[in-house]
Amino acid sequence: MTDLAGLINVADFERAARRRLPRMIWDVIAGGGGDEVTLRRNRAALDAVALRPRALVDVRQRDIGVDVFGQRVALPVLLAPTGFNRMAHRDAEIGAGLGAASAGTIFTLGTVSTYTPDEVAERCSGPLWFQLYVRPSREETDLLLARVDPSRYSALVVTIDTAMTGIRERDARNGMTVPLRITPRLIAQAATRPAWALDFLRGGVGRGGQGYGETRRHVRRVGELIRSSARQVTEDDMRWLRSRWKGPLLVKGVLRGDDCERLLQLGIDGIVVSNHGGRQLDSVPATIDALPEVVQAVAGRAEVFVDGGFRRGVDVVKALALGARAVLIGRPYVYGLAVGGQRGVERVLDIFAAEISHTFALLGCTRVSELDPSFVAMERVLVPGSGPSRAREHV
Ligand SMILES: Cc1cc2nc3c(=O)[nH]c(=O)nc-3n(C[C@H](O)[C@H](O)[C@H](O)COP(=O)(O)O)c2cc1C
Repeated sequence: MTDLAGLINVADFERAARRRLPRMIWDVIAGGGGDEVTLRRNRAALDAVALRPRALVDVRQRDIGVDVFGQRVALPVLLAPTGFNRMAHRDAEIGAGLGAASAGTIFTLGTVSTYTPDEVAERCSGPLWFQLYVRPSREETDLLLARVDPSRYSALVVTIDTAMTGIRERDARNGMTVPLRITPRLIAQAATRPAWALDFLRGGVGRGGQGYGETRRHVRRVGELIRSSARQVTEDDMRWLRSRWKGPLLVKGVLRGDDCERLLQLGIDGIVVSNHGGRQLDSVPATIDALPEVVQAVAGRAEVFVDGGFRRGVDVVKALALGARAVLIGRPYVYGLAVGGQRGVERVLDIFAAEISHTFALLGCTRVSELDPSFVAMERVLVPGSGPSRAREHV
């Protein structure tokens, strides 16, 4: 049993998860598309933003909560959808949902999940969003949405950056499949990761064990779901979804300001500036660099969120200063889940909350609404590992 209190930052969780997971699972979670330039760029660009503290502010009382579509969340960090969490831990999406609930924030359940939307809604008391991969036919999308109870899932997030699956060469080399096929290679890797192997076998879901009957059927469909999820989303799809879904509707995967007017015309309520954690098209910009143009184009007419590479409280505060309503995290909570199930997710969120509050104190800020672009200075950064690395140029 990993001593969670001994893991003091997200990087510790990352290392602990790497030690716990078989190589091929680790690579699915940690890896990116193509040469992973965007994966690295997300981090490099966040590091390149400098914080500018304000002098002589009384910071004894600080509130890091935010309103998201009228709902108060305890910290400006939400959980992004990360497909098939069962790979990391048998508690899967239930562990993530409960972890988010106890931290007072939102868990976004993905279309590609181990547990069905009904099960997650039933077992997790906290606020939930649902992420949609538009299905191959409108009938299928309609059937899927019929299972997403709008009284429990307050917003619908439509992912639009997966017209095709990204080039994931780590997975190709590892012979990785989802759902997991028990291959000699996986057995060999699992032998060196007994804690994970035991947890995986004990989980039972999809393998005739403890899982709800409903979930067992669902898991068998996961492979098919993933294959059919890579699909173009059209303006027509968005018009239909707008008429079908009454609550807040978000699109996830926007990187350009000049796309926003069209999205707003379609009636969307929120935008997630995202490059899918560097897992889809490689060489696209870091999300922190794309955020300002999106915020400017949206001009307060929708709520803007951002994800990709956020690992520290300081990272989150930079995005808030640049106009994000909140930040979504993917891998950090999956690492938490891998290392400690629900408790691991809670601990990762606790770390973010403590670091954000600490950043507020040293920055001279007492609440999110005080943050504005004057608190940051942007630098241009070359991605490490490509050319004269780390050379920085002020703009
Ligand atoms: C293992 C994994 C699975 C993911 N699955 C999905 C998914 O099913 N749908 C989706 O919209 N995004 C998915 N994403 C992308 C995340 O929602 C999010 O955009 C990304 O993880 C943010 O970057 P970060 O991991 O650096 O925080 C996935 C990411 C990871 C790491």
